[in-house]
Amino acid sequence: MSHTSTLVTGAHFAYIAQRTQPDDDFLIALKKAAAAAGIPPIWVAPEQIAFMGILLRLVGARRVVEVGTLAGYSAIGMARALPADGKLSTIELSPKHAAFAREWVAKSDVANRVEVLEGGGADHLPHFADGSIDAVFLDADKASYPEYLREGMRLLRPGGLMMADNAFAFGQLFDQHPTDREAPAVRRFNDFVPTVAGLDAVIVPIGDGLWVGVKREPAKPLPQPALE
Ligand SMILES: C[S@@+](CC[C@H](N)C(=O)[O-])C[C@H]1O[C@@H](n2cnc3c(N)ncnc32)[C@H](O)[C@@H]1O
Repeated sequence: MSHTSTLVTGAHFAYIAQRTQPDDDFLIALKKAAAAAGIPPIWVAPEQIAFMGILLRLVGARRVVEVGTLAGYSAIGMARALPADGKLSTIELSPKHAAFAREWVAKSDVANRVEVLEGGGADHLPHFADGSIDAVFLDADKASYPEYLREGMRLLRPGGLMMADNAFAFGQLFDQHPTDREAPAVRRFNDFVPTVAGLDAVIVPIGDGLWVGVKREPAKPLPQPALE
């Protein structure tokens, strides 16, 4: 049996983007205001939001944790995929980004589903209880991803969803001398993920490469043979 893959090019990315529902007026306004406030436009792509929203619905997510809020774009996008009583906690180190995100979350249609926690991922993640979270999205400092992943695996319930952005290292995955200082950390993380026990994960070529994984359910004990 032959095994073929199609080379995904910039044209494919554009094709996918053109066939994804665009940002609504609120998210367009959020991005404009973020740019005016000097916040860099490093949010995920709309097609990633669409894909992550589908995954969140498929796992029936009610509790989500994100590390890396920026302006609140992905937090609002993901929260829209949760039920009305769902809750997304998003963690942001920069006080400026956290304040901006809080302001825009408050104005959004999912204000009651999103809380912005100011501080580092390593400070906040330990406060979530074991197995209490349905989905985790990592989109912050890449050097800390292995630590965030270990914490994420602790707080995810079995069958929970793990996602991490930038597996393609800002387009510099194969560069011999990457200019982005986080590219080497991304490569190390990409090598680390397949070694993590209890996680089934794959890089999906969408946006800048999205790790998508599921925390394995514990193996069920084999039925005991009936005694004669
Ligand atoms: C790529 S942006 C997040 C984009 C956002 N998820 C979106 O798509 O709308 C990364 C964010 O992580 C934040 N960050 C950096 N180091 C962090 C840390 N140690 N803990 C939490 N956030 C951090 C940065 O300040 C920045 O706002």
